[in-house]
Amino acid sequence: MDTTTSTEFERRKRDHIDLSLDAAHQALGCSGFSSIELVHEALPDLNGSDVALGTESLGGARKTPFYVSGMTGGHAHADSINASLATVCSQRGWALGLGSQRRELTDESFRQKQKEFRRRFETLEIFGNIGVAQLISASIEDLRRVVDALRPQALCVHANALQEMLQPEGTPHFRGWLKSLEQACSALNVPIVLKETGCGFSFETLRRLREVGVAAVDVSGLGGTHWGRIEGKRAEEASLQRKAAETFESWGVSTVNSVLHAREALPHVETWGSGGVRSGLDSAKLIALGCTRVGYAKPALESVMQSEVALDRWMELQEFELRIALFCTGCQSPKHLAQKERAWTRVTNRSKN
Ligand code: FNR
Repeated sequence: MDTTTSTEFERRKRDHIDLSLDAAHQALGCSGFSSIELVHEALPDLNGSDVALGTESLGGARKTPFYVSGMTGGHAHADSINASLATVCSQRGWALGLGSQRRELTDESFRQKQKEFRRRFETLEIFGNIGVAQLISASIEDLRRVVDALRPQALCVHANALQEMLQPEGTPHFRGWLKSLEQACSALNVPIVLKETGCGFSFETLRRLREVGVAAVDVSGLGGTHWGRIEGKRAEEASLQRKAAETFESWGVSTVNSVLHAREALPHVETWGSGGVRSGLDSAKLIALGCTRVGYAKPALESVMQSEVALDRWMELQEFELRIALFCTGCQSPKHLAQKERAWTRVTNRSKN
């Protein structure tokens, strides 16, 4: 049961948005992207116009492999951000993840708002979102009501162990997660995606998911938005949380390593790559490592805070850069890049991409 008041909740969510935009709260340089180089193909047997971004995911054809990762929801400012994100995602064929639906679990008026949101963006691919701690404490009926209101194409279950420990109001209650996830996968009529929030996954954690029935893992690894840093900044000066957050400021499994772990531990489950993705070239690298989809959180938020036009321009750039990477690796589509032998190599001492 969430005991925080509405005002506290809204303040926390606003703080998260503001603090996530501060460069000091990004674990840049930790993602592992600079250790991966795509192999240039000097003579691709293609025309630029042959390159297409369409991909297959969750059993269907998708116009692009891109999505905006779940960020925000459940308060007025979030509603207008999500409406703008949804408008531009619909136009460009990106999917949209919503932020935590914690409030929708217990509040019918929030579920009503989500019904309206879905009606407004009927054809948009939307991912719902719920925290592991809420998944464990909620009943299947409660979860079903949340899913029925939004009718998402997938439900993301987010893991945020570091954040829950550092948040004074956090709920680090994860015992029993595997059983709860298993139950949700079999009882809810929606594909489930297990997602991190910026600290990535180890091989051992992913191995435990083999028989669980998740449709995808969104690694959201170390290398971008870092919740240790954000919660550290929110904590009182000289508090235990503030000091501990400094110690843990680069905690996590890098995005690149998390993706490699996921491909090895769960070869038959889709891997989605996110966490510190900052260009279409980063996206191409994750696709070459085997991801079917790639997600961005902070850069999308930064653009949409400027305007829908700025968001559209930024999305166009990601698509253009992915097209360049596909052409220059001799690949006609993301699928070709994912299947190509020796599409990438490990490099050392490369400072920029
Ligand atoms: C997030 N993220 C997040 N994730 C989630 O599963 N549920 C949530 O409610 C939120 N909330 C949230 C708020 C804000 C303001 C940001 C920036 C992010 C995490 C997000 O989906 C993603 O996993 C990480 O931010 C890493 O991606 P970037 O930001 O490095 O691209």
